[in-house]
Amino acid sequence: MEIKRVGVVGCGTMGSGIVQVIAQSGYAVTVSDLNIEAVNKGLAGIDYWLQKSVDKGKLLSENKQSIMTRIKGTANISDLNDCDLVIEAVFDNLEVKRKVFTELDNICPKHTILASNSSTLSIIDIAAATKRMDKVVGMHFFNPVPLMKLLEVVKTIATSEETLAVGKEFGARIGKTVVIAPDVPGYIHNRLTAVLSIAAIKMLEDKIASRDDIDTALKLGSNFPMGRLELLDLVGLDTILAGYENLYQEYKDVKYAPPLLLKRMVAAGWLGRKSGKGFYEYDKEGNKIG
Ligand code: CAA
Repeated sequence: MEIKRVGVVGCGTMGSGIVQVIAQSGYAVTVSDLNIEAVNKGLAGIDYWLQKSVDKGKLLSENKQSIMTRIKGTANISDLNDCDLVIEAVFDNLEVKRKVFTELDNICPKHTILASNSSTLSIIDIAAATKRMDKVVGMHFFNPVPLMKLLEVVKTIATSEETLAVGKEFGARIGKTVVIAPDVPGYIHNRLTAVLSIAAIKMLEDKIASRDDIDTALKLGSNFPMGRLELLDLVGLDTILAGYENLYQEYKDVKYAPPLLLKRMVAAGWLGRKSGKGFYEYDKEGNKIG
């Protein structure tokens, strides 16, 4: 099946990154969010990164224009009714995602493949909200989407071989390296890295080591590009907490229990880079200042 028009639901950090990569790969893409302000904020972010590339001489101004004209923003999810593939990237909550999938199932043509960018939820729980479980697949991108090579394509017990093949091919066409991941909470990557991230937060919470020493040790001792706590700030602590809550709920394994410190920080609105404060502090441009 040929993918011509792609839809994305959700224009936050992940959604806008996904839209950027898809449009840069030559596809027409329609992105929806709950209101036009949220859509415009995401589109302004894409414009910002593309303009940076233009300013550095890495992208021609006319190419930036054609990328931007391939993107259509809307506050009406029904505008995704002509898409061959729709990728959902809304908040990682099962009920929210099931509602979106039921809507998409009603709106989209029968051939449309529906994908979820969930980072921890079982995709079959989401697919079961539709009448096309064979056409539902996980497409788990990584943050920042334009810079991260990995795409986990998640196959459920109901995903057809054709849907899986389309997911794999589309991933390759937008420049990602695809791994086929099992439909278990956290898939491959997050199931592994959650354990390390939770241990890092607990080490800080229990005052075993300082924030900077934890991050420096992991960064330089394992050649990670960023410290672990710095990375959690980048992803967003609300997203991280929702992910651990899903993992803990599913596995009932204490190694996935969200640390109290993380819960308290999210309750305080300290969500990481996007809110100006998380484990570190940030200025309006997202630069670390403390
Ligand atoms: N869009 C487009 N371009 C961007 C960008 C964005 N969002 N962010 C940065 N860039 C550009 C920069 O302008 C820069 O351009 P030039 O090379 O032309 O100067 C280029 O990309 C590199 O940017 P940086 O200098 O900031 O890049 P860096 O070398 O410092 O690397 C990083 C940044 C890729 C984020 C790196 O620190 C890294 O790999 N960190 C780890 C990220 C990671 O582990 N992500 C996974 C998180 S887990 C997850 O996402 C799963 C989940 O389910 C939530």
